[in-house]
Amino acid sequence: MDFVGSHILSVAQFSRLDVERIFAVADLMVPFANRRRITSVLEGAILSNMFFEPSTRTRVSFGCAFNRLGGDVRETTEVKASAIAKGESLHDFARVLSGYSDIIVMRHPTEGSVAEFSETSRVPVINGGDGANEHPSQALLDLYTIQKELASTQKGIDGIRIAVVGDLKNGRALHSLLKLLSVFNNLQIHLVSPPNLETPEDIVQILHDRNHRVEVFHNLTEGIEHVDILYVTRTQEERFESQQDADRYRGLFRINRQIYTQHCEPNTVIMHPLPRDSREEAQELDEDLDEHPNLAIFRQTDNGINIRMALFALVMNVVDHIEDSAREVRWHSGVQQHN
Ligand code: CP
Repeated sequence: MDFVGSHILSVAQFSRLDVERIFAVADLMVPFANRRRITSVLEGAILSNMFFEPSTRTRVSFGCAFNRLGGDVRETTEVKASAIAKGESLHDFARVLSGYSDIIVMRHPTEGSVAEFSETSRVPVINGGDGANEHPSQALLDLYTIQKELASTQKGIDGIRIAVVGDLKNGRALHSLLKLLSVFNNLQIHLVSPPNLETPEDIVQILHDRNHRVEVFHNLTEGIEHVDILYVTRTQEERFESQQDADRYRGLFRINRQIYTQHCEPNTVIMHPLPRDSREEAQELDEDLDEHPNLAIFRQTDNGINIRMALFALVMNVVDHIEDSAREVRWHSGVQQHN
């Protein structure tokens, strides 16, 4: 695809070559992401970061990524703090906001809303998550992490065995990840969920159409055996009709050190898009795994910065100009990314 000026709404936009291009640019971003070097390539540019659902990682890391490229960020974090609360349409909102900004990131609770917003935006729009539909930048950082984690075992993404576990019906990060994985070859995918929280049929069909081996499990311990990647997800309570409905699934599937050690292979990488639900009654990914070297969840979050920097750099066509303004730092926090 031609990234320049494009909206990033769905992973369906990306070919395998596009994914590889994003990862190559993300690698270039590492010294800037961890502030060993500084660039002001986006000096004067403004990102409007519009988040109408709770977020820590996506909102803050998109903002930090833009700042790391030298740009400024304006944020709105609640519907009630925007004129949408007065009945303004997404179309009007996009017309107005795109006159103030150079690029917009939006998260919204309604499926398709970010695409609808993009129709009248005059600047590129990136989907930061629309309802249970998609979360493209999360899928990119997840796949980038998978590639990095497997590099030490000489494996690439082709041929991997992955178990995805939890609320597969409502998890938008997972929906985007499965679609993005589908452009690679010869995957073995275990879809492990309680009954009634299975993966949407259209996504399973994409995986079948591209000749991946897909197995459905309703039993946790059977589903997580013989995989390279164990990708755990939270029950997406906010998508259920009632708390009572969501509570039926809380704590049903829990990965802890004992289950992991007993049923997974010694090198199985543990991932989660986060946030994980650490409340007593949930704990889909127990903190007793926190010091385990195969737990990649905080390497995932670190990777979110360089992936999101890469998206901005590609869409705003500055990849080849980053070095022009690059300089070494005088002060550094000493905090290392995991890369
Ligand atoms: N993974 C993710 O989207 O996290 P946030 O909800 O904190 O942005």
